[in-house]
Amino acid sequence: MSIDAALTRALASPVGRSVGARFGLVEATTLRRGRILPTGPVVLGRAGFTDGTLLASALALLNISAIDPVLDRPDERHVDAAGRQQPPAYPGRIGAVVIDATGAGRVTDTEAVRAIMRPAMRALEASGRVVIVGRAPQDMPDVEGAAVQQALDGVIRTIGKELRLGATANLIQIAADTSPAELASVLSFLLEGRSAYVDGQPLRLASGLAQQPDGRRVVVVTGAARGIGAAIARTFAREGVQLVLVDVPAAGEALSAVANEVRGSALQLDITIADAGLRIAEHVTGRHGPDASIAVLVHCAGILRDKMLINTDEQRWASVLDVNLAAQLRINEHLLSPELAGGLASGSRIIGVASTSGWAGNKGQANYAASKAGVIGLVRALAPRLAERGIVVNAVAPGFIETDMTASIPFVQREMFKRFNSLLQAGQPVDVAEAIAFLADPATPLNGTVLRVCGQNIVGL
Ligand SMILES: NC(=O)c1ccc[n+]([C@@H]2O[C@H](COP(=O)([O-])OP(=O)(O)OC[C@H]3O[C@@H](n4cnc5c(N)ncnc54)[C@H](O)[C@@H]3O)[C@@H](O)[C@H]2O)c1
Repeated sequence: MSIDAALTRALASPVGRSVGARFGLVEATTLRRGRILPTGPVVLGRAGFTDGTLLASALALLNISAIDPVLDRPDERHVDAAGRQQPPAYPGRIGAVVIDATGAGRVTDTEAVRAIMRPAMRALEASGRVVIVGRAPQDMPDVEGAAVQQALDGVIRTIGKELRLGATANLIQIAADTSPAELASVLSFLLEGRSAYVDGQPLRLASGLAQQPDGRRVVVVTGAARGIGAAIARTFAREGVQLVLVDVPAAGEALSAVANEVRGSALQLDITIADAGLRIAEHVTGRHGPDASIAVLVHCAGILRDKMLINTDEQRWASVLDVNLAAQLRINEHLLSPELAGGLASGSRIIGVASTSGWAGNKGQANYAASKAGVIGLVRALAPRLAERGIVVNAVAPGFIETDMTASIPFVQREMFKRFNSLLQAGQPVDVAEAIAFLADPATPLNGTVLRVCGQNIVGL
């Protein structure tokens, strides 16, 4: 056999496809994106005892009528013409598997997850979905229950790594009082293409979040002249909100172009100046009327100044920490001042942009990782403090997203970073934008959460 033929054959095997895609030798699957549900039927399974009404009502709200699972059980096997025992199989492709594991409290309950998922792994369509609905381990009445709910987290992270062709697996942990509408909002995000690059993670639902007052929604996005910030502006524009787009004066032309495109207003402002928050508030009332306030504030502006720590001087450290973290703290403080017109009203949402580098650390990015871990700390500390005022705080942590920022990374490193995740490809700015629009939606029951948009990046999970 020629070397070419041997390579082609090796790349066609499951291991070869994975290795090949990782090194750019075969094309990664084009992900399903946007508000589009899977094409094939949704399979609804159950692990542990539950009356199933919460999930059934949530699916009904989404107009999804689910089918029963094919189960990998001894009595379901059949003998083929050659006399071999064959496992049960779906007659065609399935679009998604949703498992109600809210009643799983015994170790034996996990067997149902295996029995449902074994035939489904082969049958799932490209960009298919697996969603397990469970409970937060700390909400379980006993230790075995907590252990079993934590076991579901390990299962979905592994399924995410084993699935192919852009399919993902995620876990929803409901709260004691989660409503069908709240569950439906998270379920629809995870089933639709909006979550294309969200994989292998649990989402713990919050309860009793304040609703935003009706009326005009002003959304402020920093770093909006290009990349992820511009994608956020375009995604919000779809929802008919009023956009205030902020970026440095040097990016003024690009900022105006995005603002014109989305019919928003441009504010040329370096977010590191001491009164940046006040300038934003002034712009909000100036453009949208004296009673206007901010419904959503997205802190997207950020910079990289990568060097190994041994080569990182004071200036390189300070500039990154100032733009990526200190500026956000100052702006929040100003805009949260109750007396300030044009600030953050009750029911508003703050969304930070962290990074998987902040989650896991990354060689050559001590300053950046510090700033982004700081954003995670900020979100976790601020969310409970603002709960009483009805203000919700979350963040996204993108992995490798294709933008001008990542185009500056040296070629070999960039090509590697792109592929070291379960989806074997880089994310697109729109993937982060969709996750942010989801977190900004008043119907989304998440608070103090850091939502990774990283295709289940291999680093630090
Ligand atoms: N691209 C990725 O892979 C990736 C991964 C994780 C996190 N992020 C984060 O996402 C955000 C956007 O990244 P991107 O890739 O679109 O970057 P980008 O460099 O393409 O865009 C960043 C924008 O922020 C603006 N900005 C920088 N400093 C500013 C300041 N002082 N005041 C106002 N605006 C300022 C820039 O002018 C630019 O328009 C950043 O916070 C970044 O750290 C990106």
